[in-house]
Amino acid sequence: MTEAFKKEMEHAPTKDYYEWLCRIFDELGWERELKSKAGTVPENVNVLEVGAAWGVSTHCFFERSFVNKLTTVDIAPCPRATEEIIDIENQPGKHPEWDFRQGDSKIILTQLEKESYDFVYIDGDHSEDGAYKDMVNGWELLKPGGWMVMDDVLHKKNGGPDSGFNVGRALWKFIYDNKLQATLYPSWTGFAVIKKPL
Ligand SMILES: C[S@@+](CC[C@H](N)C(=O)[O-])C[C@H]1O[C@@H](n2cnc3c(N)ncnc32)[C@H](O)[C@@H]1O
Repeated sequence: MTEAFKKEMEHAPTKDYYEWLCRIFDELGWERELKSKAGTVPENVNVLEVGAAWGVSTHCFFERSFVNKLTTVDIAPCPRATEEIIDIENQPGKHPEWDFRQGDSKIILTQLEKESYDFVYIDGDHSEDGAYKDMVNGWELLKPGGWMVMDDVLHKKNGGPDSGFNVGRALWKFIYDNKLQATLYPSWTGFAVIKKPL
């Protein structure tokens, strides 16, 4: 993390979120599973992130040294996130190649190469329909054995009266339609991990 970002986060709730998210990424055991399958972490690990906003999750992925390439999709330009990551890219050390694509994930995801990602992280459009489409499109982009992770599946806004926010229902529909299982991590706003069968 750059010094500027760290300093800013000292005063914002995102610092806690950043630390929690990095810990969750470790606790999910993804790196461990990659290692146990291949004997060592493979060198071509690709991550797709839908929703960058402040770049908190982007930073977490950027700091996993085993990630080879990170593709980030956001409908907004996310200037802070973009500047921060470009800044880190320019620092010495191994960082993933970063491909930021601005646009609607409903379109961009259909343009990416199928079965080319090891990990798809979805935190973009939080409406039921939008989140469901990201899951459907994201699933096609996952390699067999890859992981799809949804954020906010237990967010208190899910199913609330005033918005279409309903990632939880999108998740339920996706696993029901496709006869899949999800593992839920109920801390913070709730994570779900769905592993694509080999
Ligand atoms: C909750 S924020 C993401 C937070 C980010 N993962 C982080 O840790 O900093 C949701 C993001 O999704 C983006 N978004 C919303 N709808 C989208 C869509 N249809 N396509 C692409 N991005 C979208 C928003 O612009 C916003 O930046």
